[in-house]
Amino acid sequence: MRDQHQIELTTEEKGMLGGDQGPAVQRAIEIVVALGTIYGAESLVPVASVQVAGVSYKNLGHAGLEFLCQWAAQGARVRVPTTLNPAGMDLHRWRTLGFPESFARQQQAVLDAYASMGIALTCTCTPYLVSSPPEFGEHVAWSESSAVSFANSVLGARTNREGGPSALAAAICGRAAAYGLHLDRHRLANYRVDVHCPLEQVSDWGALGYLVGTRVRDGIPCFHLHAPSCSASLRAEGSCLVPDPWLSTGDSLIDGLKTLGAAMAATGAVALYHIAGLTPEASVADMLASDAQRLTIGDLAPGYAALSATSGLHVDLVTIGCPHASAHEIAEIAHATAGRHLRAALWITTAEQTRERASADVETIERAGGHVITDTCMLVAPVEQLGFRVMATNSAKMAFYTPSHSGLQVCFGTLQQCIEAACSGVWSGPSPGVAPAPRSSTG
Ligand code: F3S
Repeated sequence: MRDQHQIELTTEEKGMLGGDQGPAVQRAIEIVVALGTIYGAESLVPVASVQVAGVSYKNLGHAGLEFLCQWAAQGARVRVPTTLNPAGMDLHRWRTLGFPESFARQQQAVLDAYASMGIALTCTCTPYLVSSPPEFGEHVAWSESSAVSFANSVLGARTNREGGPSALAAAICGRAAAYGLHLDRHRLANYRVDVHCPLEQVSDWGALGYLVGTRVRDGIPCFHLHAPSCSASLRAEGSCLVPDPWLSTGDSLIDGLKTLGAAMAATGAVALYHIAGLTPEASVADMLASDAQRLTIGDLAPGYAALSATSGLHVDLVTIGCPHASAHEIAEIAHATAGRHLRAALWITTAEQTRERASADVETIERAGGHVITDTCMLVAPVEQLGFRVMATNSAKMAFYTPSHSGLQVCFGTLQQCIEAACSGVWSGPSPGVAPAPRSSTG
């Protein structure tokens, strides 16, 4: 039997909608049903976990904080494991890092509201690195675009890109509307992308993501990697499903895949990609639609050039960890900074649990003068209030958004170039063979 929304609801769901479980749950399922109605869902699906974006007070503002407090006051409580996206500051070290007290107070009020709903204050865009990742085929409701891409593409879970309020609604009623990427028929690729250049650095995956995201927009690309690309080619030999230890240890392939997804979600609106022979769905079936368009990428230089400033710029902030750094990335940075002295600020953003796991490498980085910062990211923190003017990063997503979000100039390049910029205070220029080009004006 269908209700007036044409969505088939279970008896329990009808009860929620009728207010049987209180006004907070009623409001939550009303949001989920309204979305399902707009997108033509036929039913709701239970979700196994939720990741909520809209945590930084910089983005939420007072109106957002009030919205959260009102829902909490109605008795809202989450019913599935729920984590948060990065907040606007490091929850433990904000004072030493120079975050304004007034901002910290408002940010804490946001976190208190989430905590009162039973949400873990795990503020990270890589929840899959710090807690049990979703299983293949499992329905979840995540909202951070890079995490959505990773969950769908690398883990084979199912989620649309939820907004902050709709993710919170899903956590409170435990349901999402079954449309879009929750359904098999919407998970086929509509672009075949042949890549003929090697992907050796994390920034290479980001440059690739920039190039593909700007072309496919909200499409679903299926990559065919033709050049030997270190760990990707090794993985292609074996099982494609992701075992837990792989995620918790981290490796360069995981770092590359999270970076690729983040870049395509930023420059386009890609929420799912496949890599033939590697990602779970593309390892068991041909995920290409019969009318798929074709793209060929033979050179990453245009991606680097579009995001890179010219050489010789004085750099006052180098940031790594967008998406949040894995333990593997922190180890690489420790190796590159060991025994050196930094002239520019080096901020590595990560999850608190990853920082704890990598404590020996964190000490090495701190001895060189760097900071390993948790719970936040440079895009949602008020970095413009901290006096920084020029940022270097190896993240295409960070390089793409920062000029419009924070007003800083950005240099984009390899991890090695970023560390050298941190040591010298000067950006050495674009990657070898890349001519400087005008910056992208999109944000
Ligand atoms: Fe994460 Fe912030 Fe980048 S949320 S993906 S570190 S822009």
